[in-house]
Amino acid sequence: MNDWVRVCATSELLPGESAVAWDGDTPILVVNLDGEFYAVEDKCTHEDFELSAGAIDGGQVECTLHGARFDLRTGEALCPPAYSPVPRFPVKLEGGAVWTRDDR
Ligand code: FES
Repeated sequence: MNDWVRVCATSELLPGESAVAWDGDTPILVVNLDGEFYAVEDKCTHEDFELSAGAIDGGQVECTLHGARFDLRTGEALCPPAYSPVPRFPVKLEGGAVWTRDDR
């Protein structure tokens, strides 16, 4: 299992904001939704496009390539053309920073 990866200072990820961190080869999209932190793989399960390029609204992210939407809290695919959920990763707040890791 990999070590935790520092995403940014907690003060740099305010409600409604997002950031991308890399754990090895895995891009991870970390979001602050109303003070709760969530992380998913930054890769659409339709054609691997980066989800971080899309708009985040109402706890969902929309892939800019073909419009699939994912629930950022659960990873669930909400509409075609994506059908598989996006992997979720843990987030912790420690030492004034946000941390995540690919725990697969
Ligand atoms: S790559 Fe995301 S919807 Fe097609």
